[in-house]
Amino acid sequence: MGHRGRHRPRVGPRRARRGYAHVDTAEGYTNENEIGDVLADYDRDDVFLTSKVLPKNLGYEDVLRSCEATLDRLGTDYLYLIHWPNPAISLRETLSVIEKLHDEGPACNVGVSNFSAYQLSAAHHVSDVPIAVNQVEFHPWFQRPDLVDYCRETDTVIGAATPLARTATFEDDTVQELAEQYEKSPARIVLKWAVENDVVVLPKSSSPEHVRQNLDLFDWDLDDEDRRRLDEADRDDPVYDFPARDWSGDVYGISE
Ligand SMILES: NC(=O)c1ccc[n+]([C@@H]2O[C@H](COP(=O)([O-])OP(=O)(O)OC[C@H]3O[C@@H](n4cnc5c(N)ncnc54)[C@H](OP(=O)(O)O)[C@@H]3O)[C@@H](O)[C@H]2O)c1
Repeated sequence: MGHRGRHRPRVGPRRARRGYAHVDTAEGYTNENEIGDVLADYDRDDVFLTSKVLPKNLGYEDVLRSCEATLDRLGTDYLYLIHWPNPAISLRETLSVIEKLHDEGPACNVGVSNFSAYQLSAAHHVSDVPIAVNQVEFHPWFQRPDLVDYCRETDTVIGAATPLARTATFEDDTVQELAEQYEKSPARIVLKWAVENDVVVLPKSSSPEHVRQNLDLFDWDLDDEDRRRLDEADRDDPVYDFPARDWSGDVYGISE
């Protein structure tokens, strides 16, 4: 099957220098080859790896093909997510193949991404496969209380995509005041607030200094009152998960 390094023992591990343990990728990010190359030098047990299938590939055979190709590129097994729901492909069909990947491997856990509470509840209704996570846009300006409540009720971990709102939340008055008060960067304030709300954060940075900063979340706490102030900063203002979709590209496979 040509799964690069799939059975290769990961000996002599290089520990992640900055201490990050979760790598989030996707078929659509077109960087799985590079991630597979880098991870070959690390102990697989030190890394929690997530990839996602594109919405245009949610048919039964397409999911199998995409999963196989992702596995080949990453050279390992992983948490596998439906990247976006696709109204043109049966959710029941997609989940039946996701269940197979979960039960028979290679996905140790499976989940969804960008699912509303409505879509997640439909998924729970049509399939028994345990949905470990819903990776969604989440930050102080887009807190999605109904979705968060439903995820909590159903023990679905919330993974925060764009946890910094691509830096937009750094402009928030409360974030700036707290950054000054705690002598922490705005990024740290925003990430700490999410972590204290039991959300898994997936910040991205190309800067080693920011990567280092974003991990400094452990030896300090936000006061309850300050956390509540950030809870009140919600503007219902997404940076990418807008109510309407652009169906014209190659992502959904349903354009003319
Ligand atoms: N499931 C989905 O559909 C979905 C959608 C979007 C994102 N995601 C996931 O979420 C991850 C993050 O999303 P994102 O990159 O869109 O947004 P983000 O993490 O909210 O923001 C990234 C931006 O924040 C800046 N930044 C990071 N740390 C900083 C710091 N300490 N100080 C100042 N600036 C800082 C980065 O610039 P520098 O590079 O200069 O640090 C970059 O411009 C993605 O990599 C992906 O894994 C998933």
